[in-house]
Amino acid sequence: ASYDMGGHDTYMHKEISEQPDAVDRVLRGRIDDRFSTVHLGGLNLDPREARTIRRIKILGCGTSYHAGLIGASLIEGMARIPADAEPASEFRYRNPVVDPDTLYIAVSQSGETYDVLAAVQELKRKGARVLGVVNVVGSAIAREADGGVYVHAGPEVCVVSTKCFTNTVVAFALLALHLGRIRDLSVTDGKRIIEGLRKLPAQIEEILKTEDEIKSIAAEYAGAQSMMFIGRVRGYPVALEASLKLKEISYIHAEAYPASELKHGPLALIEPALPTVAIVPDDDLLEKNRAALEEIKARSGRILAVAHQPQAKADHTIVVPKNEDELDPILMGIPLQLFAYHTALAMGRDIDKPRNLAKSVTVE
Ligand code: G6P
Repeated sequence: ASYDMGGHDTYMHKEISEQPDAVDRVLRGRIDDRFSTVHLGGLNLDPREARTIRRIKILGCGTSYHAGLIGASLIEGMARIPADAEPASEFRYRNPVVDPDTLYIAVSQSGETYDVLAAVQELKRKGARVLGVVNVVGSAIAREADGGVYVHAGPEVCVVSTKCFTNTVVAFALLALHLGRIRDLSVTDGKRIIEGLRKLPAQIEEILKTEDEIKSIAAEYAGAQSMMFIGRVRGYPVALEASLKLKEISYIHAEAYPASELKHGPLALIEPALPTVAIVPDDDLLEKNRAALEEIKARSGRILAVAHQPQAKADHTIVVPKNEDELDPILMGIPLQLFAYHTALAMGRDIDKPRNLAKSVTVE
């Protein structure tokens, strides 16, 4: 690709830095303050149809799958429609039941990932309604879908996805709000979410300003053989994505677990040489998450927390600004992009072109 790096050393750094503007773009022109909802011009789904949806199934690969997991929880939370996400490749190969009351949503930065495209084509052949949440306008998946939401992240060059991940999650928040306001979400909650969405660009800007601190924290973890990432409910997909980012560009083995599952296995691995990154939002699960930190500390595990306030049990805390509970995952992922970046940089990795990976996988 021939886009200017704009003074950054890598595309990844450029793309991380662009996030306040990118989020601004996905919001622009879509918010309707009068009815506390959003307009999504390309959705192609009328309110009567939207009310008949009984389930939502989200399909994607890699980082887009992780964005879909957060999307499912946003939709379920705001629109109260049962929703889940699955890797498109798994879905394709297990001969899934295609249900007429289910709305299928394909997520893809490039819009060209073969496994996602093939899943969409199979769904359409079986008469399903499929929407796309796609970045590249006019791409194959965007064309196959019945409608959808463009993510407007702008061109993403680095093999690993950062700004597109964030924008995809914001696009899902818009879709969740839209569906929610057609169904049961109150005007008050609609307003609350809209206010939260509007705060995001400035809050991301604030997080980006802590880069030096994140860089010095990363220097302490750069030699690790392996790292554990934990989160609970909304925090779990954040942990999954942060662990993927770290392994893709640093080649440090990283695995993500729901915090509640620690005691069912991975606790056996905890020792000083296996640091844990914990997602600890200030919400109704805070005490539960703190208990997990205590479990880890009791086994002398090192802890890096991403939280809304310093965590006593953690060796380091990256403090992020608080938004609405539903939107917190969007912000909590961002410092961990910088964490992966600076860890990989300290290890001398080729950040924009990690070994063995491609930006889009257009073959089976
Ligand atoms: C490749 C890339 C990942 C990306 C995935 C899905 O594996 O290395 O960064 O998340 O494809 O790509 P898509 O374009 O469909 O979002």
